[in-house]
Amino acid sequence: MDLDKNNDEFRNDILKGLSNPDQKFTPSKYLYDTQGSQLFELITEQPEYYPTNTELRILEQKARPLINSISKDIVLIELGSGSSKKTRYLFDEILKRQPKLFYFPIDISITFLGNIVNDLESRNKNLVVRGIPDEYINGIKECNQILFENNISFDTFSRLIVFFGSSIGNFEPEQARDFLKHLRLNMHDKDFLLVGFDLIKQVDIIERAYNDKAGYTSRFNLNLLNRINKELGGNFELDKYFHHAFYNKQENRIEMHIKSKLDQKISISGSEQTFYIKTDETIHTENSYKYDKTKIEKLASRSGFTIERTFSDKNQWFDLVLLRPC
Ligand code: AVJ
Repeated sequence: MDLDKNNDEFRNDILKGLSNPDQKFTPSKYLYDTQGSQLFELITEQPEYYPTNTELRILEQKARPLINSISKDIVLIELGSGSSKKTRYLFDEILKRQPKLFYFPIDISITFLGNIVNDLESRNKNLVVRGIPDEYINGIKECNQILFENNISFDTFSRLIVFFGSSIGNFEPEQARDFLKHLRLNMHDKDFLLVGFDLIKQVDIIERAYNDKAGYTSRFNLNLLNRINKELGGNFELDKYFHHAFYNKQENRIEMHIKSKLDQKISISGSEQTFYIKTDETIHTENSYKYDKTKIEKLASRSGFTIERTFSDKNQWFDLVLLRPC
């Protein structure tokens, strides 16, 4: 990997976002460096952060009907596998029906992947794990290549691509549609796609999930400033900013911002530009879109899928949606 090129991209994106006259912003992918990914794992353990627990519970209870909705033997591909915690519920259920399971976790974080491959294979002899350190679409192309090299034919197998955690909510609605369309182009007719959607619900429940008492979401958000300081020579003093997350009802999304406590100057070393941020002015760092049945239905049909089945929790807080190409 070309580190300098990545660093240039990071620098350019940050300078561009801080220059935006209407609203300072930064692409949300930059929240997930090693430190950020670890903080996110801690967020998922907080009692207020319901999406993880809710999705886990659905998988725990519905793994069997879910897997039985697919008649062929399965090859499992996971986008953004992280710790693969949720996927473990599917392994056992799939291995009740077939002697071996190929599992391809795709994640840009190599650290996570290395640990998981060894751990999973040593726990389960019938699991063949190939970690793919890449972006999603490229990763799927690599899976196709490996399957081809191993003579695994699409006549006898369905691939099940899983995308958990309501990460689809990080995309703008049009981007989500383009992303699913792109996935569709790399899928065969008999493949399936399983997507987790966080649903629209009472505002206070959502807002509490992004403002946990222990303060991990705040640390996760402000870690971006640390990262800019370390990697780009920024001058952010973290105690002069605070975490600000709220639900935007018009857009059906949680917005995460970093808010300035005072009028101050922002500089990035090696750049001539200086930025000014006023008291209470914010840098917008992430959106997390919430869905309802109608929006999910529209997204599916506009990207070339039909809904095979939906699995929900009893509160209807979260939907796991099994999609089939059409
Ligand atoms: C990883 C995008 C699913 O939006 O809920 C959690 C990220 N940000 N708390 C989400 C996140 C703040 C999370 N996703």
